[in-house]
This record gives sequence, C-alpha cells and structure tokens, in this order.
Amino acid sequence: MNDKYILQTKQLTKKYRRSTILNAVSINVRKNTVYGLLGPNGAGKSTMLKIISGLLKPTSGEVIFNGNQWNRKDLAHIGSLIESPPLYGNLTAKENLEVINTILGLPKERIQEVLQIVGLTNTGSKRVMNFSMGMKQRLGIALAILNRPKLLILDEPTNGLDPIGIQELRELIASFPQQGMTVLLSSHLLSEAEHIADDIGIISNGILGYEGKYHSYENLEKLFTDVVRKHRA
Ligand SMILES: Nc1ncnc2c1ncn2[C@@H]1O[C@H](COP(=O)(O)OP(=O)(O)OP(=O)(O)O)[C@@H](O)[C@H]1O
Ligand SMILES: [Mg+2]
Repeated sequence: MNDKYILQTKQLTKKYRRSTILNAVSINVRKNTVYGLLGPNGAGKSTMLKIISGLLKPTSGEVIFNGNQWNRKDLAHIGSLIESPPLYGNLTAKENLEVINTILGLPKERIQEVLQIVGLTNTGSKRVMNFSMGMKQRLGIALAILNRPKLLILDEPTNGLDPIGIQELRELIASFPQQGMTVLLSSHLLSEAEHIADDIGIISNGILGYEGKYHSYENLEKLFTDVVRKHRA
C-alpha cells in the first residue's frame, strides 16, 4: 500500500468491440495536489474519468483508491462533475443543493458553505435555467463538493467560460488541495494546466504518453505535440 497517492490506475483498459479506447493507462495522483489529464479530443479522458467515478466499467486493469482496490463505497469520497452538471432548471442554486444535501443526509449549514466556496451566495431566487454557463459550472462544482470528497473529478471544467471566468475557476480549483481535496481534471488545452496542475498526464489515442511534474519552464507545447503525434491513430 502506498499512502502517497489518493488514486492510481494500473494498466487500465477499455474496449468497445474491436476498438481500444484506453490502452493500459497507469496514472498516479498524489494526495492534495491538482492533476491535469491532458489530451486532444477523443483521447479517452472522459472515459478514464467515468471509470474512476463508477459510471463505466473497465475492460481490464485496476483502479486503486487511497491504497485499496476501488470499491463502490469509495464514491462517498469522490465528487465528480463530468460533462454538464445535473441541474434542475426550475429550481434556484440553493434548492438544487438542498435536493442532493437531503439525499446525502448532510447538515443544512453545508449548503451555505459550498455556495460561499464557489461564489454563488448572491443568486437568491434566480432560477438555474437563467444562469450563465459559468454560474452553472460553479453550481456543478458546489454539488460535487457537498460531501467534502477526498477526490474531486472535473471533466473540462472551464469549457465554455470566458477568460475571467476561467481565471476565477482556476483560483477556486487551486484552493481545493489546501482543504484536503485532491483534484483530477481533464482538458484538451495544455494551457489549462498552467498555474494549477502539480502533475500532468498526457494521453493520446488511449495511451498515456507522459506523466510527470508540471514545469512551466519546460517546452510543454512541444512535449504535448510530440506525445499526440506519436500515438495518433
Ligand atoms: N459508448 C461508446 N462506444 C464506442 N466508442 C466510444 C463510446 N464512448 C466513447 N467512445 C470513443 O472513445 C474515444 C474516447 O472518447 P472520450 O470521450 O473518452 O474522449 P475525450 O478525451 O474525453 O475527448 P474530448 O476532449 O472530445 O472530450 C472516442 O473515440 C469515442 O468515440
Ligand atoms: Mg471528454
């Protein structure tokens, strides 16, 4: 058992009929860090995150959560926002949170806390269908962190946001490790990892071509293109 990592995958493989979507992917996500899973469209990022969140079963390979083989019970410690957040458009932010908060049996105070964390305390009676993309994304994150997960999975969290929104969301994400939350996020943009990722993994065509610390001084652009070109179908 290795307690340095909150999450590891070992030779994770996913096949649909004859096509291999993930080909023996082994990633190592250190506790209380931000890990950026980067790769072009169709690389297998969402598939990877869906397996870790229990939405898909791998064909083979293992997921190790906090040192032990992944178990459905671990979902109590994993928060996720994959693709678009599941929101009720006719309810307010607070009401949306109340629904999940009640299901999870959490104290009422937690709602105000998460609204504060994601900066949505002033939306009052505004219904979610009238929210901007960035507000919906924040609410999605609020829902994902309600139960104080040890691991927060965010699939392309800044998709569709304007530059200010991206900057704000980055700052928010970067603040999570100090609160005991490790973040695993995906992006097809290399720049997404800038300033926030401690470690990155570059995946292309289902193959992890690189994993290591994020060093802004390195020529990451070249590394990214090299990895992508090398494994392209
Ligand atoms: N249910 C499925 N059946 C067959 N192929 C699938 C299925 N789901 C996904 N795929 C394929 O798996 C590959 C990886 O998809 P995935 O959504 O994981 O990529 P991604 O890296 O998240 O891409 P993007 O940046 O566009 O979100 C794609 O080629 C996709 O067509
Ligand atoms: Mg995706």
